[in-house]
Amino acid sequence: MVIAEAPGLTVDTVDITDSDRYRDHGYPWAEWDVLRREAPVYWYQRPGFEPFWAITRHADIRYISSHPELFSNAQMLRLNTARKLGNAQKQRTDQMNFTGGNPADPPDFIYMDPPEHRQHRGLVARHFTPRMMKMLEDHFAAMSENYVSDFADKIIADFAERGERSAVDLVHELSAKLPVAAICDMGGVPEEDWEQIFEWTEVLVGADDPEFRLPGETPSQASRRISTEWFHYNNELIQQRQREGLGDDLLSDLLRAEVEGRKLSPAEIHSYFVLLLAAGNETTRNSISGGVKALLDYPDQLDDLVAHPELVPSAVEEILRWSSTVIQFQRTAVEDVELRGQTIRKGESVVLWYPSANRDEEVFEDPYKFDVRREPNDHFAFGGYGEHFCLGANLARWEMRSIFHALLPVLPNLELAAEPEHVIGFLHVGGIKRQMLRHRPR
Ligand code: HEM
Repeated sequence: MVIAEAPGLTVDTVDITDSDRYRDHGYPWAEWDVLRREAPVYWYQRPGFEPFWAITRHADIRYISSHPELFSNAQMLRLNTARKLGNAQKQRTDQMNFTGGNPADPPDFIYMDPPEHRQHRGLVARHFTPRMMKMLEDHFAAMSENYVSDFADKIIADFAERGERSAVDLVHELSAKLPVAAICDMGGVPEEDWEQIFEWTEVLVGADDPEFRLPGETPSQASRRISTEWFHYNNELIQQRQREGLGDDLLSDLLRAEVEGRKLSPAEIHSYFVLLLAAGNETTRNSISGGVKALLDYPDQLDDLVAHPELVPSAVEEILRWSSTVIQFQRTAVEDVELRGQTIRKGESVVLWYPSANRDEEVFEDPYKFDVRREPNDHFAFGGYGEHFCLGANLARWEMRSIFHALLPVLPNLELAAEPEHVIGFLHVGGIKRQMLRHRPR
């Protein structure tokens, strides 16, 4: 079954870059279907964007992701309008001037290629192994129980007070809690500042959405304001570590770290730490919100999961595939490359559309069915493997397993009070800024 039939769509008319469309109607599934079927390696030229190759099939995204010697991360990381690209470049120069870094250097290790990339990524990788996550399992379970129990109390109290008009926001009252707590805890950020980290991340990611800006502020000004505040904050944390001694947290590891005998500069530590904190809380929160919605939309799947809690790990994989929170990453061809009969010229951009790969009929049987028992489930929610595969994939998986486990007794008594509200203007992560839920007495 294809959920979004759109008669009359052709490769020449598909629009996969209109951010208003994402806000109003969600992901362009039907458009990606057309591209996968008719032009999986498609030279996409639309007003307002630099032309790029739209890559929509699972196999091609895997190929590109596993060949960093052909497709580089160094030039461009994600698709942006031509206008925003100019601003981003200026912002990067401003920030480097401010933090004392060199504007010509990569802002963080996502922008690096091998072998430099691996040297930098490896500095904290030990914190994200499955073994480390196993050690945190009980801690996550206890936190999840608390957060879910507070959330359930809130939603019942609101219903008792307001009846059918009741509406409690899942995103702020639950989805954000564990991802922020877990990465901040690992980072060595004091608990009283966790809320602040969440708010800074919301603005950094959502600066195009007027809701996240101060009155009269432009998106660039909002980003600059947050970057400045965050830089000062990180500097204080660093000075505290230097006064009181290093611990066993991410920031301490960055302060100890050396690459080829050289310590990281303050600018490098700042960017690295912000990357971990922001990537660690933004994506997982959206995947949790997307998972709750999917389970409420498909009550037969929820019933199956409630009756068989041992399915939580496979349900989490299906939620990751279904919600496909990260929309795209970009690479630049290092030399001419032939792909499906098309020549991608040196210097041209390729954009990897992960949600499309996650509905690829060549890989997934009945891809538009949400199936908590799906097996195998070779989804690309965390990227198409290879060099840049999500560093936090294990962390996200363990967090989601513990949250959905704790939610099982609560979910059957919930219903959507409204459709989710999406962050405006961001084509990189499918951000859900509010999702109102209500208690549904049985
Ligand atoms: C459900 C939650 C998450 C999703 C869907 C997600 C998705 C992704 C994707 C698609 C990529 C790019 C992969 C590629 O280019 O091949 C990525 C990279 C990355 N993610 Fe995640 N992520 C999640 C959670 C996390 C968490 C919890 C962290 C914690 C630190 C994290 C840190 C990173 C980092 C540092 C990278 C860059 C890796 C590199 O360039 O080597 N992510 N993630």
